[in-house]
Order: sequence, then structure tokens, then C-alpha cells
Amino acid sequence: MPVRALWYRNGILSIVDQRALPGRTVVRRLRTPEAVAEAIRTLAVRGAPSIGVAAAYGMVLARRGGRHTAVQAARLLSSTRPTAHDLFVGVERIRAVWEAGGDVEAAADSYRREVVEECHEIGRAGAPLLSGARKVLTHCNAGALATVEWGTALAPIRVARDRGARLFVWVDETRPLLQGARLTAWELAKEHIPHAVIADNAAGHFLSRGEVDAVLVGADRIARNGDFANKIGTYEKAVVAHENGVPFYVAAPWSTFDPRTPTGASIPVEERSEEEVAEVRGQRLTPRRSRHRNPAFDVTPAKYVTAFITPAGVVRPQDLAKLLDRRMRAERPPAGPRATGSRVRRTRRASG
Ligand code: MRU
Repeated sequence: MPVRALWYRNGILSIVDQRALPGRTVVRRLRTPEAVAEAIRTLAVRGAPSIGVAAAYGMVLARRGGRHTAVQAARLLSSTRPTAHDLFVGVERIRAVWEAGGDVEAAADSYRREVVEECHEIGRAGAPLLSGARKVLTHCNAGALATVEWGTALAPIRVARDRGARLFVWVDETRPLLQGARLTAWELAKEHIPHAVIADNAAGHFLSRGEVDAVLVGADRIARNGDFANKIGTYEKAVVAHENGVPFYVAAPWSTFDPRTPTGASIPVEERSEEEVAEVRGQRLTPRRSRHRNPAFDVTPAKYVTAFITPAGVVRPQDLAKLLDRRMRAERPPAGPRATGSRVRRTRRASG
């Protein structure tokens, strides 16, 4: 079984601190919304769906603590990271229940179950796409750690493996915070899925030599037209995959789709601290006088996406807007934030 990134019981949200992996498995017990906000900001809990579920439980802790109004708690948790649409879905879902006087804990539990079940559906929908594939490439970590359980990009790989496929996974290391080298490799190693970690700048080499049959990634926010934000470096992988005729798939639960953001141009891109680029695990790499830039995400145009793997099946980019409109009409899902002002927002550095 893959790991579980977080769980909630009796007023305590327990998270596997992803900053300590793969060296140590540290479980942190969070009791206040401030502690949850800090864990999200510092990437102790990370990956868009996990962030959304953690924030939902952060709202539960705020309600229990009695020190915040629903609006204050929502503001605290929503200010942590701007790009992952799931964060706002998780917060808004619980805020609505809180303001209606409902059972926030039951609402957060049900949101968590929904995310996990959608990941299983993504796995089942995506596995057939890999039937002829031997080697796939992934970027960042879109596994169980990023999604509470199971994963988005890793879900079809897991289902294909369970159905007897012998897949090999290229794992981009994913500088600056090394989510691929530390977290995806850790998940795959635990399950004995064959893989190799490669430097971020090696992916083009393998793509151009016919050593990658498909690229699978997750997303932090998918705009109505299919442009999507994901971990920095995703865009260049998509362009090189396109150049080499390699299919490029984006797997995500519904909370990652943002029907109110028309195109990728309006997706807010988080910019994090210079230290994350200047250092690796506390070790300084660059001259003291050097400056750094650290956008945490980039936006890949829909034209490079072969298909989205959704809980409802495989969707071509050109069909996405119609599908999202139909879902909005049927469900009226909670609104995410509209992108306003600067497209680049700064957050504090990740420690550890
Ligand atoms: O900064 P992170 O580690 O939270 O970024 C995570 C990613 O970019 C993931 O690929 C994305 O959230 C999808 S997780 C299923």
C-alpha cells in the first residue's frame, strides 16, 4: 500500500512531515489553524490535493478552537500558497458548512474521502493509456504524499502495475526542493516500482532518444481552456515531449480544475524565497553576492497536453471547457479565488 500523507482524529491533524523525507519519517501533530497554515507554507504538507485536505481540517481546528470566525480562518489558511486551486476549494467547502451551522468535521472527512476516491478513479481511467508503454517520465511528486493517498500522476502507474504491467519510471529530481528525488523516488522505492532519478536537465536527452513512452504529471491549477500550472520545469518537459511526439498526460481531481480562470495567463504563480535556490538542504551552493529567482510553478499551454486524466475519464483539452461548464451547471462547486493583481506572489522559504 502507498503511504498516507495525513489523517485527522479528535482535534488533531497528523501529517507526515515531507521536509524530513526520505531520511526520516516524522509525524507532526497539528492542533491549531495557525500550525496547519505554517505546515502548508513551509511544505511540511504539500501537493495540491493534500494542501486542500489539510486546509479543510485547518478550518475544523479553527471552529473547535473558537478563536476565529469562519472568515478569519478562511483568510488565514487561504493566504498560505496562491497557486493550488485545491486549497481554496478545501477552505471554501468547510467555510460554507461552518456558516450554515453544519458539521464541519463530517464535511472535511467527506472532502478527504472524495479526493482519495477520485485518485483511484484517475488510476483506473489512466492505466489503459499506458498499455503499450514501458518507460514513463514524471516531474515533482504527484503520488500519495501529494494527494493524501494513492496519487494523481502515480495512480495510473500503480493501477497498471497491479494489472501486471512492467513499467519503469524516470523521476525528475525537481529542483529546487527535490520533490522528485526525495518524495517520488521514496514512494516508488517503497513499492519496488523500478525507477531512476535523473537531473532535471536530463529529461530532454531521454525524450529525444526514444527512452520515454509517455509523460505523466499532476497539476496545481487547470484553467478552463486547459492551460495548467504545475511544478516549475513542467513547461519545458511538455515542449520537449511535443517536439519528440511523446504523449503528455495531466492527471488531477476535480478540485484542481478552476473553471473560473479562463486561461493560464490568469493563474497566480507563487514565487518563493531565494534561499531555496541558493541552498540544498541547508548547504549554500552559490556565491553570497548572487541573486536568485524562484518561481515555484510554471504554466504549460493546453496545446502541449495530449489529454487530462480526470475522475470521469480521459478528456482532450479541446473538450475540457464544455465538460467544466456542464459540471458547474450540475453542481455549482465552491468558488476558488479570482486571480487579481500581481501574477507572482511571494511566500516564505521552506525550512528543512
Ligand atoms: O510546491 P509543491 O511541492 O506543493 O508542488 C507540487 C506540484 O507541483 C505537484 O505536481 C502538484 O501539486 C500535483 S500533486 C497531485
